[in-house]
Amino acid sequence: MEKDFHVGILFHNNPKYFELHSQINDHVDAYEIVLGQYATEPDVIDEIKELGKPLILHTNLLSPGSYNGVSRSDLQKVNSRVDRANALWVGDHMCYSKIKGIESGGLLSPFLIEEELSIYEKNINVITKELNCPLLLENVIMFYNPLSEMSLGEFFTKLTERTSAGIILSLENISQCQFYHNLDHYEFIESLPLEKVVQLHCTLGNIEEQKQIPSFYEKQLKHFEVIKYLAEKKEFSPKSLIWELETETPSLASPDYIVEKIHWARELFANKG
Ligand SMILES: [Fe+2]
Repeated sequence: MEKDFHVGILFHNNPKYFELHSQINDHVDAYEIVLGQYATEPDVIDEIKELGKPLILHTNLLSPGSYNGVSRSDLQKVNSRVDRANALWVGDHMCYSKIKGIESGGLLSPFLIEEELSIYEKNINVITKELNCPLLLENVIMFYNPLSEMSLGEFFTKLTERTSAGIILSLENISQCQFYHNLDHYEFIESLPLEKVVQLHCTLGNIEEQKQIPSFYEKQLKHFEVIKYLAEKKEFSPKSLIWELETETPSLASPDYIVEKIHWARELFANKG
């Protein structure tokens, strides 16, 4: 029977992840891979597929906020990897990352103005029509003060009403907003259509190293607290939680600790909905 909840890790194209997998593979339901890291080495996708778990693709190629529309060649590139990975879905970001083919160098957040909605709506509808699997869009770091005719939550609400895209909720990206345009975790969560959140992204660091730096440790604990808060929300029933193991600390979390948190997430969400 197909699983309705997949907990796993973001699997970077790096030998240490191939070492790690042998210790956690039995406990993982799915691996997420970042398309950019496999774009030039697509054969590695086959190697990860051989681990026997479903794959989820993550990318920043699609740029749904570009006013000049969606690049057909980027869509084709994503689709070729979707087919190769037999991906459950593709995650990109509610942002723009290029205009007329010129890369911005970052995931630039929406201005949260009315005029933008039609650009995003049109592009997302093109993407969802062409893509060979479902599309999810993730909240990005708010690098600047938006012009704000609406909240970020309202922006997500309107676009998920007008398109078939789902949402990836990134707790780390909310936390990173504090350095630019602060976004409160709970306020943002309350403003989102939680039933449209399909996937959770959360960092998972080496807890012993995090304890040496209070801000890192507090942030990790905050993320756990937010996950528990979400688990209690009746309307929140995600299909996946992906732990992102690359954090500010030098080492990855230990395999035992990752396995413990995989089971913890499964207990919280696997039987919801
Ligand atoms: Fe992301």
